[in-house]
Amino acid sequence: MTTTVPVTGGDFRPYDVVAGRGLLTELGARVAPLARGRTVVITDETVATLHGPAALKALEDAGVRARLLTVPAGEGSKSFAELERVLDRMLAFGLDRSDIVVALGGGVVGDLAGLAAALYMRGIDFVQVPTTLLAQVDSSVGGKTAIDTPRGKNLVGAFHQPRLVLADIDVLATLPERQLRSGWAEVLKHGLICDAAFFDWLAGEGASGAKGDPAALQRAVVRSVEIKSAVVGEDEKEAGKRALLNLGHTFGHAIEAELGFDEDSLTHGEAVALGCAMAFRYSAAQGLCPQADADRVEAVTAAAGLPVSLAEVGQFGAEALIRRMAGDKKAEGGRLTLILARAIGDAFTDKNVDPAGLTAFLKAEGAT
Ligand code: GLY
Repeated sequence: MTTTVPVTGGDFRPYDVVAGRGLLTELGARVAPLARGRTVVITDETVATLHGPAALKALEDAGVRARLLTVPAGEGSKSFAELERVLDRMLAFGLDRSDIVVALGGGVVGDLAGLAAALYMRGIDFVQVPTTLLAQVDSSVGGKTAIDTPRGKNLVGAFHQPRLVLADIDVLATLPERQLRSGWAEVLKHGLICDAAFFDWLAGEGASGAKGDPAALQRAVVRSVEIKSAVVGEDEKEAGKRALLNLGHTFGHAIEAELGFDEDSLTHGEAVALGCAMAFRYSAAQGLCPQADADRVEAVTAAAGLPVSLAEVGQFGAEALIRRMAGDKKAEGGRLTLILARAIGDAFTDKNVDPAGLTAFLKAEGAT
């Protein structure tokens, strides 16, 4: 059974996120009404091997002329050089403004293909077909597209909403376990932000999703997308509420940056999991949130096989972490901003975090 979650409410054209099993075989039928002529399917080398032939067949069976455009797997493809290469190949293929781009892959492919679509001839449509759990529950929804520069991640980009998102639960079966767990961190995050009952389910019956159970995964994807779409509908450009989706990301990003964004040491999802545990512990230490909630976040996150303490991932200096956090692009005017919590399911933004208090907290967490 498929579930359709509409993304509406903003100044953008509404679109659907469709989640279900076997959706890749329906790609052609679902894209054909949107693609008047041709499409390029932008993907990476790993996903091209796993799902490229099925995607092309589905499109061609539905009468859509399609070409696969493959980039190297990994964050390195979110670069000016790869963006230029992709745009040049789209031009060489002769795509025009009525054609459509399909992003088939994880967050890297979605971000790069989405930005290419945003720029190509001042903007053409694109469809997201996320193949990682992280992309299904987060990056494919909401229209953030970007590349990295040597000065930082996601610093050059555009808001460009997709026409459609197809989240095929079956493709998650090919994900390495570590990648699945990493996506689970973003699922847990959605419960922590605003849905305590969802978090309860993820901690109990739904926990099988982190191990690949398709029914639990589908429910987790659908609820995550419902939460994200409601936030994006209210605040597409992150003027306020959307910042809540960054729960765990300011701590997590600083830790990732200190580790040189080395995904072998720490994946983005693992960094978010650790960041969420730290945000709850910090909230409890400030007397904002019950300690029992912070303890529960830690226990549920650890039970999903995700890191919850700095000591598990490396050695860090408190000052270095604070510098990274103040330099985070979410920080305003150098002020430290953190997403904190009053309870599980009740996150809020604190734009005036006290650096001295945060330094003391990080030292108590094991930073030097
Ligand atoms: N990943 C956070 C957002 O889309 O706003």
